[in-house]
Amino acid sequence: MPNYRIAPSILSADFARLGEEVVAVAEAGADMIHIDVMDNHYVPNLTFGPLVCRALRPITSKPLDVHLMATPVDKLVVEFAKAGADIITFHPEASEHVDRTIQTIIDSGCEAGLVLNPSTPLNHLEWTLEKLSMVLLMSVNPGFGGQTFIESTYGKINQVRDMIKESGRDISLQVDGGINIRNIRSIAMAGADTFVSGSAIFGVENYCDVITDMRNELL
Ligand code: DX5
Ligand code: ZN
Repeated sequence: MPNYRIAPSILSADFARLGEEVVAVAEAGADMIHIDVMDNHYVPNLTFGPLVCRALRPITSKPLDVHLMATPVDKLVVEFAKAGADIITFHPEASEHVDRTIQTIIDSGCEAGLVLNPSTPLNHLEWTLEKLSMVLLMSVNPGFGGQTFIESTYGKINQVRDMIKESGRDISLQVDGGINIRNIRSIAMAGADTFVSGSAIFGVENYCDVITDMRNELL
């Protein structure tokens, strides 16, 4: 049985009560906290910087999973690592030198992940997979919560799962965008083990119920 992890994305949280929201989802059973960093340059939206990560660090022991949708990315890697990030993922299109950015994440003491957009080909993994702790497949185009899961992602998940198997390494396969109680099982069956979900979790009254229901779909 894979080590399934559910990562609520705080992009859909109530920003006026962000600390309370993080504590609430952590207590409701979240495995990690997904922090969507958007710079209104690489993606058409603007969210939070390292200061927010630093503010959240002391209020939860859950891993902080920082998804950088920003460019240039290397300086932000160091700042988010200092602010308490545990995992840092970035888009290859946002880095001048992808291998160097991966090494910077590792040298900063964090786990490194590469994020592939729906149209980004898998060959970005050819010369990077052996350094990665996680591959993040976007099942929506980055920039917003509440979008619909792009169905072609299933085939991509299959292929990346096979690549990870072939590598013989313990690499997580995270999927991000449009995940909910109705599709999480099929996404797991396709080969994912880590699930980012924003609006499907923060959009409901009881976080514990929805996270428990999602986990039951993975049994
Ligand atoms: C989109 C972000 C996702 C998003 C997921 O650019 O990377 O993490 O917040 O939100 P939902 O689950 O609502 O699609
Ligand atoms: Zn994300």
